[in-house]
Amino acid sequence: MKKNNAIITGVQGYVPDYILTNKELEKIVDTNDEWITTRTGIKERRILKGEGKGTSYMGAKAAKLLLTKTNTEASEIDLIICATTTPDMMVASTACIIADEINAKNAFAYDLMAACSGFLYALSTAAKFIETGTYKKIIVIGADKMSSIIDYTDRATCIIFGDGAGAVMLEASEEILGVQDEILQSDGSGREFLHMKAGGSIKPPSHETINAREHYVFQDGQPVFKAAVKNMADVSEQIMKRNQLTSDDIAWLVPHQANLRIINATARRMGIGDEKIMLNIQKYGNTTAGTIPLCLWDYENKLKKGDNIILAAFGGGFTWGSIFIKWAYNS
Ligand SMILES: CC(C)(COP(=O)(O)OP(=O)(O)OC[C@H]1O[C@@H](n2cnc3c(N)ncnc32)[C@H](O)[C@@H]1OP(=O)(O)O)[C@@H](O)C(=O)NCCC(=O)NCCS
Repeated sequence: MKKNNAIITGVQGYVPDYILTNKELEKIVDTNDEWITTRTGIKERRILKGEGKGTSYMGAKAAKLLLTKTNTEASEIDLIICATTTPDMMVASTACIIADEINAKNAFAYDLMAACSGFLYALSTAAKFIETGTYKKIIVIGADKMSSIIDYTDRATCIIFGDGAGAVMLEASEEILGVQDEILQSDGSGREFLHMKAGGSIKPPSHETINAREHYVFQDGQPVFKAAVKNMADVSEQIMKRNQLTSDDIAWLVPHQANLRIINATARRMGIGDEKIMLNIQKYGNTTAGTIPLCLWDYENKLKKGDNIILAAFGGGFTWGSIFIKWAYNS
């Protein structure tokens, strides 16, 4: 029997209209465009405004457009996985809300939480369902409304993050395309450096936690930076070796967009030139689970069937990983 390969058959993004520039941030916290640009590569990010709009709003927009683009009926979707760190609410899941919004009546849906590596973890999970033949059509979404958990008085974090969502359609193919290999890892001891202190079951929200601003993301940037550079580069190098790929064989590196310096260090270790690195950090900042599908969406018209692509991410948890895919279609 031939193997089912899990291939991406379409990609779509959605970013909110509101643009928060470095210049505007200069008015909010003690920072400046020059510092942000040179230390992170970010010039602006999108912010989702409007009452009642959460992560599902963006995820549903991307998923709906993806259905149209791929000529798919919502009823054909078997499963929706939404990678997010900023669910609309703790109960019900954001994926269920998205399924309802797009009228995917036959789909089951769940959220997956792995911070900035969320899209990779979700893609890996979805690929297994396709490879085993369990399901035929899966929408994998990476979506985050980071502005909902960011402290806009903390200059160390508020300059980095933005809001956005990306979605891919995953289907089966007998051609040797799609998800080829993966290395996914995690190390919970890294939570010390990147976490939200309150709002979860250890410390439910209270007046005290709100007053102490503990319902926002806390990040100790330097140790996270060091771990990101090492781990993202390590797994990317390993996956190349394991698949006998030289830098010439790789058409694109799609790195998580946390910091341009982390991206460049990873690319250097892999021997990948700037022209092969997908970037959207300058205009969207770090959209957490959204960065990788949003990059694929931005660069879709440059991608060719058979292109070898390395996806790589590092994020809170710590979580990190690398997935090797062969692009499955010409745009
Ligand atoms: C957050 C990050 C951009 C900070 O950059 P950095 O080079 O590590 O900067 P540092 O924290 O060492 O701070 C350097 C100086 O800049 C200052 N600074 C920090 N944020 C600033 C800002 N927004 N504007 C101006 N100055 C700032 C610091 O106070 C410090 O000043 P000091 O030297 O007088 O003490 C960087 O650490 C980073 O990208 N970390 C990893 C993020 C990541 O990958 N997260 C995982 C996925 S979410």
